[in-house]
Amino acid sequence: MLSDKLTKALSDQVNAEYYSAYLYLAMSAAADGFGLKGAANWLFVQAQEEMAHGTHIYQYILERGAAPSFAVIEQPPAAFTARYCSPLVQFFASGCSNSHSLSRPYIK
Ligand SMILES: [Fe+2]
Repeated sequence: MLSDKLTKALSDQVNAEYYSAYLYLAMSAAADGFGLKGAANWLFVQAQEEMAHGTHIYQYILERGAAPSFAVIEQPPAAFTARYCSPLVQFFASGCSNSHSLSRPYIK
């Protein structure tokens, strides 16, 4: 059995993984809107990967007999859904070299 503190931390991480997926989906949609089909596909695949991370952690919580908690998934920044700036410029300008820097900090 997981402690309440660890269950909460893991649940928060599930939320962070799904937030990352949301962010990648928003970026994918923006890239698609610019006709950047390859970039849109790559970003979509990253979203799927983040959802898989969240699902694995969720399953871990259940396998340990704990009950995950669910919070609101934050909306992606409007900048990623805007049509006035290239999503790739937004992506690289944000300093994101990997998916983990897109989400809130992992469990400390
Ligand atoms: Fe992740």
